[in-house]
Amino acid sequence: MEIKNICCIGGGYVGGPTMSVIADKCPEIQIDVVDISAERIRDWNNEDLSKLPIYEPGLAEIVKKCRGKNLHFSVEIEKKISTADMIFISVNTPTKKRGLGAGQAIDLRWVEASARQIAKYAKGETIVVEKSTLPVKTAETIKDILLKSTKKDDQQYEEKTFTVLSNPEFLAEGTAINDLNSPDRVLIGGEDDASINALKNIYLRWVEEKKILTTNLWSAELSKLTANAFLAQRISSINSISILCEKTGADIKDVSLAIGKDKRIGKHFLNSGPGFGGSCFKKDILNLVYICDYYSLNEISEYWQNIIKINDWQQKRICNLIIKNLFNTISDKTITILGFAFKANTNDTRESPAINICKNLLEEGAKLNIYDPKVKKSQIEKDLNLKELGSNNNNQGSWEFFNSPKSALINADAAVILTEWEEFKSIDFNHLSKSMRSPCWLFDTRSITNCDLKNSENINVWKIGDGQN
Ligand code: NAD
Ligand code: UGA
Repeated sequence: MEIKNICCIGGGYVGGPTMSVIADKCPEIQIDVVDISAERIRDWNNEDLSKLPIYEPGLAEIVKKCRGKNLHFSVEIEKKISTADMIFISVNTPTKKRGLGAGQAIDLRWVEASARQIAKYAKGETIVVEKSTLPVKTAETIKDILLKSTKKDDQQYEEKTFTVLSNPEFLAEGTAINDLNSPDRVLIGGEDDASINALKNIYLRWVEEKKILTTNLWSAELSKLTANAFLAQRISSINSISILCEKTGADIKDVSLAIGKDKRIGKHFLNSGPGFGGSCFKKDILNLVYICDYYSLNEISEYWQNIIKINDWQQKRICNLIIKNLFNTISDKTITILGFAFKANTNDTRESPAINICKNLLEEGAKLNIYDPKVKKSQIEKDLNLKELGSNNNNQGSWEFFNSPKSALINADAAVILTEWEEFKSIDFNHLSKSMRSPCWLFDTRSITNCDLKNSENINVWKIGDGQN
């Protein structure tokens, strides 16, 4: 089966970059990214490439090359579904906020809406690809919707056929284009060989065959949740050791290096920090926990829940140590927050540790000067939601947005590095601390600043996992 037209439902952090790379690698395939958010689509079509809705290194160049040729962004969902041979579902799958399974289960309403739209508007033979991260057995739900909604009163039922594949995405934000160009593996789960091969043939344009794994649907869905759970587990593990380093005089960087040399452990994902953020780790582990509970696997559920517990604990302990070092009160003290994104090289703030840490500092009455090279002020406003925070607190602090670290540091009592942006590594704190209020502090939760600061008379330094602080 030759694929000529692809439609991707959802133009977010996954849909946008993934379709851009497929468009780049397969110029003969027409690709339409559709989204219910007219604002997002407008931004994808912005002539000024710095205004694309997401910041991702290397993305703007590909959009520039392919947009208007074989890569299109629109809100014409029905029309684009109707002309597609293959449809990717790449919509958001957050944790349910209310109702059955609230706080753990995935809210499938956007996936279901997409499946219903496909059932209604698709024509002929259509391959539906789950790109979103989904609970195990969701493909069954999608198949059900596709079959049952077409059977009922649709005169053209005979002309429509659907197959469902699971093709989870493993890209990480900040390195998405590189991850898509050179994936460690591509995973395709499904039952129909012709559909699997149609998708495989697309990836074969640039991915070695041995890296393309095919499995059944359920293994593909569960592998994605498991991969994220394992990655998050490594971060909680190394973060749990960071405090031991601080207590014992060891250095977490040395420990990471030493253990990472063991090939069985490996060197990646061993950086201690303020806890993992991002839209997926927490929600995917919670989903795993929900599935375990569903099957009454209580010990397994508890095991994975602890990964999240350690993550919350790490964020909390950072707040506490800031307060403790600033003489146990931060009311009316100015604290400079360097970095608000959940990691470097992205403008995404979903589940960023900065949100909880800033909220806690505001609760204690601090004045925050916030700087991030890519996150907009309006996004921080949404994330901190001061109105909600301040309802019962007379001592609530305030925050201001700054355009440079230098201006954000003036008169500050402390600076807190929360995101490992490259530009923070070269800040001369020794020099800039002269504009801060003495005695001032640097809390480096990513351990990225220059070690010479240790002997600085101008500034006290705390670095995560550094027992020589
Ligand atoms: P996102 O919120 O950035 O994008 C989802 C988009 O889907 C939004 O723009 C939304 O408006 C749109 N949408 C929702 N319902 C729609 C509908 N019925 N029709 C058209 N558009 C609709 O989310 P994301 O970060 O791109 O994540 C998408 C999925 O991919 C999630 O399941 C996530 O777990 C998974 N994932 C994300 C990443 C990542 O790094 N962000 C990596 C791998 C997998
Ligand atoms: C993660 C996975 O890495 C991707 O494979 C997966 O596709 C994606 O989730 C997803 O399903 O959404 P992402 O969240 O974009 O990607 O970014 P990561 O690089 O994994 O970082 C996640 C969080 O962990 C960040 O807050 C980061 O700062 C933190 N982290 C990462 C550490 O604290 N230490 C590390 O060593 C690595």
